[in-house]
Amino acid sequence: MAEAGRHVAVELIRAKRDGRTLTGDEIRWLIAAYTAGDIADEQMSALLMAVFFRGLAPAELRAWTAAMVASGERLDLGAVSLPTVDKHSTGGVGDKVSLVLAPLVASCGAAVPQLSGRGLGHTGGTLDKLEAIPGWRAGLSAAEMIAVLRSEGCVICAAGADLAPADRKLYALRDVTGTVESIPLIASSIMSKKIAEGTSGLVLDVKVGNGAFMTEITAARLLAQTMVGLGTEAGVRTAALLTRMDIPLGRAVGNAVEVEEAVATLRGEGPPDLVAVTLALAREMLALAGIDADPAAALTDGTALDRYRRMIAAQGGDPDAPLPRARHVEQVTAASSGWLRRLDAFAVGVAAWRLGAGRARKEDPVSAAAGVLCLAKPGERVEAGQPVLELRADDESRFARSREALANAIEIGPEPPAAAPLVLERITG
Ligand code: URA
Repeated sequence: MAEAGRHVAVELIRAKRDGRTLTGDEIRWLIAAYTAGDIADEQMSALLMAVFFRGLAPAELRAWTAAMVASGERLDLGAVSLPTVDKHSTGGVGDKVSLVLAPLVASCGAAVPQLSGRGLGHTGGTLDKLEAIPGWRAGLSAAEMIAVLRSEGCVICAAGADLAPADRKLYALRDVTGTVESIPLIASSIMSKKIAEGTSGLVLDVKVGNGAFMTEITAARLLAQTMVGLGTEAGVRTAALLTRMDIPLGRAVGNAVEVEEAVATLRGEGPPDLVAVTLALAREMLALAGIDADPAAALTDGTALDRYRRMIAAQGGDPDAPLPRARHVEQVTAASSGWLRRLDAFAVGVAAWRLGAGRARKEDPVSAAAGVLCLAKPGERVEAGQPVLELRADDESRFARSREALANAIEIGPEPPAAAPLVLERITG
């Protein structure tokens, strides 16, 4: 079988390399055999590279995604009586939207099952942020997750090992073979996990700009359309917003600092850009769930904050515990007076990462207290010498490399920047 399997894999690699469309059976066999360890990494690497260059036809992509879902458990959320709706973000700098959105949408009457990840590279992960809260646990069993969802209406936790295990293996392989940046591979990776999660509705926040995975709007649009198509075909009501990510979202970038900003937003004291993106996504989620409610009211009347506190406590966290504070703080000041025209999201993300807020390899620890506070944002006036960024770290030796990342991050000029919308496009099935 092993020898025969190797020959079949070579045939399929050749076929994809030469542009032949693979059949559903061939794709199902490839994904199942790779997950079971019957196809070696070198053969799968070659196939992934062939997919990278040749793409996947719509039927191939559907079969590929379905095979990844079928590689593990599909959660059954049937015990949850409320309509279920989730959000996925492709990741951005200062993107703490999930921390606000899940309790907000739950407080409006939907159930939000959010399986999230840890950060890798310059964008942070939702679980890393919440792990800054003393006692909070990301690792819940499926039964625990459903229990929190039923009692609190929202849960944010790590995806279990049984959820789309094919994606776990394939993503690790893509990471070391230069095959991450492929729209069909990204779309099938994200959507297989969301379909397996069992949610009925899904809103995708596809971020566009230099702080995002997708820097060009055409690629972001294609990714969003591909994911919306996959979700809809799998019976998940799916919509997407393309949102701007060329400056950090809100003022805080890191872990504990982002939790603090999320809580302020739930108290009705959030920065306008974070509030606007969160409300736009909340409205999409509530529409998919068939709920007619005004999420803006829940941000100011304390109901969303109450949900957040209950969700944190249900996962072992103490919502009143002081968050870790960095031992060392430095500031980056304005070189001249004028309007702050640009604050580069990618540079700020890298700076926070180098301060210890993010990880280079997935097994690295992160510092809960490290991060960057944007004391001024584009569109605000600054005076020469005024602090624009506050850098926080536990380890003083990290400041120098963090500052290097920020060398060209700040642009000050005589005119304010042109106003640009935060929500660029809406894509529905
Ligand atoms: N996030 C995922 O889950 N998968 C990808 O392929 C890229 C980003």
